[in-house]
Amino acid sequence: SLPRDFAARLLAWFDLHGRRDLPWQKPREPYRVWLSEIMLQQTQVTTVIPYFERFVARFADVNALASASIDEVLALWSGLGYYARARNLHRCARQIVAEHGGEFPRSVDALAALPGIGRSTAGAIAAQAWGTRAAILDGNVRRVLARHRAVDGWPGTPAVHKRLWAIAEALLPETRLADYTQALMDLGATVCRARRPACARCPLAGDCTARQRNDVTRYPAARPR
Ligand code: ADE
Repeated sequence: SLPRDFAARLLAWFDLHGRRDLPWQKPREPYRVWLSEIMLQQTQVTTVIPYFERFVARFADVNALASASIDEVLALWSGLGYYARARNLHRCARQIVAEHGGEFPRSVDALAALPGIGRSTAGAIAAQAWGTRAAILDGNVRRVLARHRAVDGWPGTPAVHKRLWAIAEALLPETRLADYTQALMDLGATVCRARRPACARCPLAGDCTARQRNDVTRYPAARPR
């Protein structure tokens, strides 16, 4: 079937070319996965790594982070940018301690109700921390899927957004959700790039509809103006 084959090719590519030695992958536990996903929301992996290491060295778990002052959190965040992320991170830690007994809630909906965690980040956390069959749809993944299925229209419209989420859900494999999630993000960041996509190195090029149309960079459509 298409979903099984899509995931199988992506995972085979990941086993050869994906990142399997990132600090939040060893050990892959909810606090570390959450922290990394918030840091990675607007920032590249290579920039995030030293910040992540300093953060977990100072705050070993969500209780330690919740007990800290916002000033100390902001000082450790200094240089990463988008400081609303740090404020939400701190609020989120305090909420997990106050309302969830210091344990991350396991459901995607409960995660998405927390400060700083949208639907895609909630899916990324659940898939990576517990292997939940949850979809993600960040900017990179949106591009991969819009191209593979030649989804027309600007993803900012509700109809296109909904269609892309439906594709993301339909393609989920039965196993290896953590690796699958990381693989999709890695492919979008390194191969299915916005400009100059490296289709020759893409495990999904064989049935990529945008490629068949010789029009890869037209997808996803830009915001109409
Ligand atoms: N962007 C958001 N989450 C990411 C992850 N886990 N790896 C790489 N880029 C990401």
